[in-house]
Amino acid sequence: MEHEVFGDSYEQGRQYVDILASRGVDWGLIGPREVDRLWSRHVLNSVAIEQLINHGSSVLDVGSGAGLPGIPLAILRPDLTVTLLEPLLRRANFLTEVVDELGLAERVSVVRGRAEDQDQTYQVVTCRAVAALPKLLTWCLPLVAPHGQLLAIKGESAEQELIDVQGTLRKRRLTGQVLSVAAHTDAEPTWVVRIR
Ligand SMILES: C[S@@+](CC[C@H](N)C(=O)[O-])C[C@H]1O[C@@H](n2cnc3c(N)ncnc32)[C@H](O)[C@@H]1O
Repeated sequence: MEHEVFGDSYEQGRQYVDILASRGVDWGLIGPREVDRLWSRHVLNSVAIEQLINHGSSVLDVGSGAGLPGIPLAILRPDLTVTLLEPLLRRANFLTEVVDELGLAERVSVVRGRAEDQDQTYQVVTCRAVAALPKLLTWCLPLVAPHGQLLAIKGESAEQELIDVQGTLRKRRLTGQVLSVAAHTDAEPTWVVRIR
């Protein structure tokens, strides 16, 4: 299935998965039990949102950790310019190494910092497993460019989290939707909260 999703970029995707399975585990960024499900649970889950991203967008991945979803998105979509934002030094160093090794440095950059301290804006802000929606909105909405969108990959709590921020969205004249998306017809779908 991953061959079909990544096509010509499959080798680069496989290289990333190999790095996660070795250095990612050694550096403590990936749990050893995740190794057998890196493609299904992490990489394909990350690229499920690519269908929501316009061609040529600038993307900020907040709390990128080991590079999810930002690195798989950058591999699958050579038209995107991606910034990986991560406050922890060790993780930011890991990301810088991986971006260089994968040959992505021309259009993928790593910024060490917290979302609430950034002042640039991006057409798309992504986040996966970073914080609950009320906090994410406070951190991330100022980073979304006019007419841009926030895409938060969520678990089953997506609907409830969206209900929790209805007041904030109304005040800011924004709309939120919960969408179920998948990278492939045979891949497990994931929930994404889209705010724009
Ligand atoms: C559970 S990890 C998820 C990493 C990755 N997105 C994933 O899906 O595997 C949460 C990440 O958010 C980062 N983080 C925490 N607070 C943050 C903040 N205020 N701004 C940006 N990143 C933050 C943490 O350092 C950590 O790497």
